[in-house]
Amino acid sequence: GAEVVINGSSSPAVVDRSNESVKHNIQPASSKWRHNQTLSLRMKQILKFLDAEKDISVLKGTLKPGDIIHYIFDRDSTMNVSQNLYELLPRTSPLKNKHFGTCAIVGNSGVLLNSGCGQEIDAHSFVIRCNLAPVQEYARDVGLKTDLVTMNPSVIQRAFEDLVNATWREKLLQRLHSLNGSILWIPAFMARGGKERVEWVNELILKHHVNVRTAYPSLRLLHAVRGYWLTNKVHIKRPTTGLLMYTLATRFCNQIYLYGFWPFPLDQNQNPVKYHYYDSLKYGYTSQASPHTMPLEFKALKSLHEQGALKLTVGQCD
Ligand code: CTP
Repeated sequence: GAEVVINGSSSPAVVDRSNESVKHNIQPASSKWRHNQTLSLRMKQILKFLDAEKDISVLKGTLKPGDIIHYIFDRDSTMNVSQNLYELLPRTSPLKNKHFGTCAIVGNSGVLLNSGCGQEIDAHSFVIRCNLAPVQEYARDVGLKTDLVTMNPSVIQRAFEDLVNATWREKLLQRLHSLNGSILWIPAFMARGGKERVEWVNELILKHHVNVRTAYPSLRLLHAVRGYWLTNKVHIKRPTTGLLMYTLATRFCNQIYLYGFWPFPLDQNQNPVKYHYYDSLKYGYTSQASPHTMPLEFKALKSLHEQGALKLTVGQCD
């Protein structure tokens, strides 16, 4: 069968801003890219220890209110499963028996601005978005369709002012209502510090009967994803949401298309790129403090793009 060569390096990612974007030029160009079915199937086999159906969320039967959970990244800190969290645990997996022909995973890079990719993104059978990123005002470039959206607890602080007043609570509520039955994926057990924020969101969903299918990933997902990339010699400190979503999607999507993955300050034509398409957050991936190794992840994804296992779009859509 085809051999999967994922070209990551274990050396720390050194960011040389002068030629970073040139180094990461995407080949083949969009029009020449061909899906490599053999390779996609092989990726699926390699990943068989990852079970998207199971790993996307802890199910109701496995926890009860009051249970103590150790945070995945802060093993010494614990949290209790609240009544609300328990209520919102799915009874059956939101991905049960789900398989899709083509999926889009939309990262949040400013490279999406002026891409005109909205229609193309919305044409995929399953669309995954990250961290409740806004869509309405950016529909031309990012599309509207959302089948699954992630929400790190920190989003409540960053994008919704920690719900300090009724206006912000209303804003979040509107955003949640707009999800309209899609999956809301909340990594509540990853890192300490987000407990209250997760609780506020849970409360809001229950109180206002928001129509979302909540999912709370377990430790299993992280082990599986990390293990998988380590096997391929890609030493990822803490996988980003985007990489978790890609890895998960390999299990239930035939073809995978990535948009908005570009952790560099200049685009391929040397023009500045915002870190997020929708806010003024600055690049943090170069700092020692950042738990992520985004450029390293990007290198691995780029290598998979070159082999046809996934398609990265980092410019305009046709
Ligand atoms: N991303 C990217 N380039 C950027 C910004 C984001 O490739 N300039 C990808 C990353 O895979 C990231 C995903 O898009 O996980 C979602 O972006 P964001 O919401 O910014 O994620 P972060 O909060 O930065 O990181 P995480 O949620 O992974 O902790």
